[in-house]
Parts: sequence; C-alpha cells; structure tokens
Amino acid sequence: LTDSEKSAVVALWSKIAPQTSALGAEALERLFTGFPQTKTYFSHFDLSHGSADIQKHGGKVLSALGEAAKNMDNLSALSDLHAYNLRVDPGNFKLLSHTILVTLAVHFPSEFDASTHAAWDKFLAEVSSVLTSKYR
Ligand code: HEM
Repeated sequence: LTDSEKSAVVALWSKIAPQTSALGAEALERLFTGFPQTKTYFSHFDLSHGSADIQKHGGKVLSALGEAAKNMDNLSALSDLHAYNLRVDPGNFKLLSHTILVTLAVHFPSEFDASTHAAWDKFLAEVSSVLTSKYR
C-alpha cells in the first residue's frame, strides 16, 4: 500500500474500532446469507441472526484487521491457523473481503469515497494474501 492508501485505511479504522463486534457480525451475516456455502466452516456456531457466536467472532475478525493495519507481521499466527488448521478454501477470502467492504460502505457513506474504497480493497486483498500464503 502507498502511504496515502495506508492513511485512508487507518482513518476509517478509527471509526470502525469502537464497534468491531457489530460491524464484524454484520460482515459475517452478509457472508453467510449471500454465500451460504461459507457456513460449512462454522457448523459449530449458532448462525442465527445476531447470535453471540457471530458477534464474538465478528469482533475477532475486525480486531485482527486493526492489528494488520498497524503491521502486516501481526498476521503470522492467523496465517498459520487458516492454512494449517482450518484449511479454508482461499476463494472464500474474496467473499469475506467483499462483505466487509459492503458493510463499511453502508455504515460510513461519507468516509467511504472512491479512494477509501480502493485503499480498503487493496488492504483486504493484502491481508487475504498473507492468510492464504502458507497452504501446502
Ligand atoms: C478464526 C480472522 C477469513 C474461517 C479466525 C480468528 C480470527 C480470524 C481473528 C480467531 C482466531 C483465534 O481465535 O485465535 C480472519 C480474517 C480473515 C478471515 C482477518 C480475512 C479478512 C476467514 C474466512 C473463513 C474463515 C474467509 C471461512 C469462510 C475461520 C474459522 C475460524 C476462524 C472457521 C475458527 C472459528 C472458531 O472456531 O472459533 N479468523 N479470518 N476465516 N476463521 Fe478466519
């Protein structure tokens, strides 16, 4: 990411940070509704609307993005987890990135201008690339 893209990611992050669980839960619910095949990874979760599992996991996912925004090196353990333990099909990262973008666009219409959209798209692609880099 260029310096200005990084600034755009961090600027919106400051709005996201106080509501990671709610926004993360919405992104996950959009994932499970729009792309129901992704639910196979979460058969041990209560996937009903607004469930505690979804809120908690949504918070974890968005907080991890906050850590990644500070430093991509913070994704190392998560990268091991997704590749070695979970073995999530890499194609699913594009789907989740999409529903995260949609969620941000809906909640932050004035901040989510074209350059912020482009910066977040690139950031999420970079995070996804790190999380899918260790498959073997
Ligand atoms: C677990 C982040 C993409 C499936 C996790 C955890 C985090 C995380 C922070 C919790 C790790 C822990 O408890 O130590 C992310 C990020 C993603 C991403 C930042 C991309 C932006 C995906 C995708 C899938 C997925 C695309 C599948 C569709 C899972 C599953 C777990 C998990 C099944 C374990 C849940 C549990 O049993 O608690 N992820 N994830 N992740 N992730 Fe991801």
